[in-house]
Amino acid sequence: MKARIVFVILIFGYLFCSLLTPDSSALSRTQLWPKMCASCHDGNTAISKDAIREKYVTIDLFMEAVLNKGGRCMNILKNDENLIRKVAKEIGLKD
Ligand code: HEC
Repeated sequence: MKARIVFVILIFGYLFCSLLTPDSSALSRTQLWPKMCASCHDGNTAISKDAIREKYVTIDLFMEAVLNKGGRCMNILKNDENLIRKVAKEIGLKD
């Protein structure tokens, strides 16, 4: 009986806490640009996100640029076209 009450309190406690703290981790997990590109592409070290969006208007052009113009330090990213495509969509490029 006691165990049940504790259990119910725990459940409600959990629900209450999850209401108070909106979970941003799910969102940040899907944000590839800030995690994988922004550190270099800040407009100083490498071209900024906005500049990329102006220069490469479609996903295909962007893909080509990453593969052919991307710095050598980006090599590890270049064999993952799915990732590049996701990043392209994330920064708002269209097919
Ligand atoms: C370790 C640093 C670094 C990371 C991380 C990085 N880049 Fe780069 N990127 C560069 C550098 C440096 C250049 C410029 C290469 C040159 O001009 O020779 C570049 C160039 C590019 C270009 C061509 C830009 C142009 O001048 O037209 C694109 C597009 C690009 N990167 C996309 C990305 C994307 C998308 C990511 C994340 C998935 C990413 N980069 C991650 C350093 C990085």
